[in-house]
Amino acid sequence: MAAELLSPAEILRGNAMAPVLRSKFLASRVAQQNIAANLLGVPASKLQAAYECPECGAGPDIAHGRPGYLFDDGPAPLVLSASRASGWVLFATVVHPEPGLRLGVDLENAVGTEFAGFDDVALTAGEHRHLNAMEPGDQAQERTRLWARKEAWLKMTGEGLRVDPNSLDVLERPGLWDLKLPYNADGQELPAGLVAAVAITPS
Ligand SMILES: CC(C)(COP(=O)(O)OP(=O)(O)OC[C@H]1O[C@@H](n2cnc3c(N)ncnc32)[C@H](O)[C@@H]1OP(=O)(O)O)[C@@H](O)C(=O)NCCC(=O)NCCS
Repeated sequence: MAAELLSPAEILRGNAMAPVLRSKFLASRVAQQNIAANLLGVPASKLQAAYECPECGAGPDIAHGRPGYLFDDGPAPLVLSASRASGWVLFATVVHPEPGLRLGVDLENAVGTEFAGFDDVALTAGEHRHLNAMEPGDQAQERTRLWARKEAWLKMTGEGLRVDPNSLDVLERPGLWDLKLPYNADGQELPAGLVAAVAITPS
């Protein structure tokens, strides 16, 4: 299925991964292409992945960075963002976007932010003060919420972690929202500890 639908660059990237990571990567790329095709009302096989990386360039030979698709040799009219955590994938998409609209989404498990030194590498001075003013029992969830907001923002800008996360304050930032995730598309409850955020280009 993946080999039939995905681009040679995506298959090549997947082949460089360890088996468990590879199957998660390929499954999420297949799901992403099907969702994009469904929203656009075109067959998934007519879309071709064309990613954009600030260092490596853009086009069908690029399979990392900001996601995008070609349709009929032109850019498909949608913006999308994706994030994987704990076996789940979160997609955010806008079809027929206003020119210049950009989107970033992030899904995090609290376990990922529980390590010594996280606050120093990840948080600004203001975020440190904010966290330290909270009850100790609430800090882990808040740390994860801040991290999801940072990654969503940095996917929206396209820079990713080329930007030092401890230079980006996300406590109050127009265009950035926490997402509530009680259920998936089948009405199934998501595991506790998952936190998500979405960023959309501020107008
Ligand atoms: C963006 C980034 C913070 C996300 O990392 P993460 O938390 O490990 O992974 P997530 O599951 O939340 O998100 C992964 C998705 O983010 C998106 N993404 C990756 N880089 C992106 C960028 N520069 N801009 C927008 N979106 C990006 C992709 O859709 C990716 O999905 P994929 O694995 O199918 O390619 C991280 O990939 C990063 O900082 N990248 C920049 C550095 C880099 O890519 N260097 C190598 C290439 S030169």
